[in-house]
Amino acid sequence: MNNPATFPTIRTEIAGISVLELARCFETPTYIYDSDKILERIEDLRQFDVIRYAQKACSNLAILDLVRRHGVLVDAVSGGEIYRAQAAGFPTTGTAPPIVFCADLFDRRALEYVTNLDIHVNVGSSDMIQQLGQTVTEGNISLRINPGFGHGHSQKTNTGGDHSKHGIWHHELQSCLQLARRNGLTVTGLHMHIGSGSDFEHLAQVCGAMEKCALVVGSELNSISAGGGLPIPYRDGESTLDINRYFELWNATRNRLQETFDHPVSLEIEPGRYLSAEAGYLITEVRAIKKMGENTFYLVDAGFNDLARPIMYGAYHPISLTPSDGVADRPSQPVIVGGPLCESGDIFTQQEGGLVCTRELPAANVGDLLVIECAGAYGFVMASNYNSKTLAAEVLVKNQQPHLIRSRQTESDLIRDERIPS
Ligand code: LLP
Repeated sequence: MNNPATFPTIRTEIAGISVLELARCFETPTYIYDSDKILERIEDLRQFDVIRYAQKACSNLAILDLVRRHGVLVDAVSGGEIYRAQAAGFPTTGTAPPIVFCADLFDRRALEYVTNLDIHVNVGSSDMIQQLGQTVTEGNISLRINPGFGHGHSQKTNTGGDHSKHGIWHHELQSCLQLARRNGLTVTGLHMHIGSGSDFEHLAQVCGAMEKCALVVGSELNSISAGGGLPIPYRDGESTLDINRYFELWNATRNRLQETFDHPVSLEIEPGRYLSAEAGYLITEVRAIKKMGENTFYLVDAGFNDLARPIMYGAYHPISLTPSDGVADRPSQPVIVGGPLCESGDIFTQQEGGLVCTRELPAANVGDLLVIECAGAYGFVMASNYNSKTLAAEVLVKNQQPHLIRSRQTESDLIRDERIPS
């Protein structure tokens, strides 16, 4: 069993570098990523034949380059993500496809990318099979199957069952295999991803469903993917998934298939959050402190334009304080942490449904920093320009050195593509 997580309430360093120094150099709000944490997480998963990073979690080129250099392949869900993967040095073809496009539909742009670059596709609908078949004469594809059940940390991240738009409904596997054949396409891979931030019990159910489907596909199958969804601890006391136990389950499934088919079947995993979440910190400055009746609000310069998970899912992120005067001995108090946006939902301490809650945090002064932790997955990538706020800077700490990997947007960037018609 893994050790339960503990999160500090006072933080002075990130990856060995002073938080105050980082804020001085790069200003706030800024995302800081610790490369060592990402590499540790990659090592946890080495037993799988292929670790395919779901780049939607954090797709900065420097992060993609880092994982690529450590043997990780990549998943792409749009033409833009294929473009990024290429820009970060991933080749388009290889024995195990270096880039896999996974979606439930082809927008026209993505179909162009996939066919021009010969990208392997993990198909999520019969229409995709047809559209691909009209464009290419032959090729291998994978099918993403919706096994009829799903699970996630929120209803919005559950990707299985009949309320989900994702994947090919399990009963349609047979007809999709025939459709693929008629279109000159061979199904060589199967994939299931039932949700993001699931738990062991639910993730384990997938193995049985996968085995059943694999037997329907038959011996042309040479790869199965367990998808992503591996949870990470966001709160004190939560532990990480028991990876060995998880791998053993999948390995047993894979071994049975290998025996039946009498050839190797590659076992893939497709994590996003697991690789990048814990490596990411959003540093932000306390700019105002106010009392509203009994409640104390810390208002910081990051909002849901920078980190949308709390307002979207009621997601909990650990928050720590970096005292600007270095005095760490602060009494704690229940506070609400909010951002600068002109919208009352711009609160980092809320539950799903928008219920505002308090968090026990050390007493703060204006000018102190708050560090919103476990923000490396679905943080920057879900940021927006709402309220004409500029996108934050991103910094990667590598070999004890901070590197600016994305400059803070400027106000002129905001209007660069806009036109006033004459
Ligand atoms: N593979 C597929 C097909 C997926 O749809 C996803 C996530 C992943 C892999 C990676 O899942 P992960 O290992 O990161 O859980 N914005 C939400 C998460 C949405 C996930 C969408 N798909 C959040 O902030 O929690």
